[in-house]
Amino acid sequence: MTWVRAHTNIALIKYWGKKDEALKLPYNSSLSMTLAAFYTDTKVEYSAALTEDQFFLDGIEASEQERLRVSAFLDEVRRRYGIKHYARVTSINHVPKAAGLASSASAFAALALASTIDLNLDSEELSRLARQGSGSASRSIYGGFVLWEKGSDDKSSYAYPVKMEAWPDLVMIACLLNENKKAFASSSAMKETVNDSVYYPAWVKQSEKDLDALLKALQDHNIEDLGRIAQGNALRMHASLLAVNKWYFEPETIEIMNRVRSLQKDIPVYFTMDAGPNVKLITTKKYLDTVLEHLNGIKTIVSEQGPGVHIL
Ligand code: DP6
Repeated sequence: MTWVRAHTNIALIKYWGKKDEALKLPYNSSLSMTLAAFYTDTKVEYSAALTEDQFFLDGIEASEQERLRVSAFLDEVRRRYGIKHYARVTSINHVPKAAGLASSASAFAALALASTIDLNLDSEELSRLARQGSGSASRSIYGGFVLWEKGSDDKSSYAYPVKMEAWPDLVMIACLLNENKKAFASSSAMKETVNDSVYYPAWVKQSEKDLDALLKALQDHNIEDLGRIAQGNALRMHASLLAVNKWYFEPETIEIMNRVRSLQKDIPVYFTMDAGPNVKLITTKKYLDTVLEHLNGIKTIVSEQGPGVHIL
């Protein structure tokens, strides 16, 4: 029985909005860092004896809603590769709930490989498949820095690793806030932004520029440029959402943003935020201790860059 591991990723240039809901084709390309500290382990056992898909998450039977999402993904796998049987899926999430880090990225990247393990798919195909489960999962197929090319159809929308000299100095700090403050799902929020936000076209246009500039900062190992661009991009994503009367910020979110802003006067540390109140900071190892000192009272997990999806 084979277990597969996929790490979660945090976008420096965000994916926010689908051009095609069914295929999960995004309006803009995005770029992320895969995190070593957070991952999902999954195994898939097909069996002729099953009459429906089963899904066990963290040792217990998952909710019907979660099971149906996994089952819909497996339907796609069965359709594409002619697999006849239902499956029992077992997953363990090594993502602290309080971190509020999207586990759908690691979950569907792990599921993409675990459900096709005997087919030996190449990474490009795995990325396209993972995309069908959750857009951000397309990026968790790879380690390090990863670009999801928006493409224009199923074939052309997939992720690949950014060609660059390794930059192990760059680290991320996940700030663990209160998890009971759950707001609303990202997929419906992004849909509303696409349909109703007057800022949406500006978001898409600027994201493409941000991506080019961020790629250059990555090549140059320039933390100031990289952080500034990533932070601005995250704020613009949230601004597009604010315009439809929705936000993910909590008091603790703003508290951390303010602390980072004052720290930024002296050292290169920047923030990014996703579909939740949690904040992730970007800095280099040199400044890590100073940043952590200034985050006293806030629970943090430091993460280096992690690897791509792999068999355990
Ligand atoms: C804010 O990948 O979870 O984290 O494709 O609808 O499953 P679906 O969305 P998902 O959205 C992630 C949005 C984000 C930004 C990002 O990771 O790029």
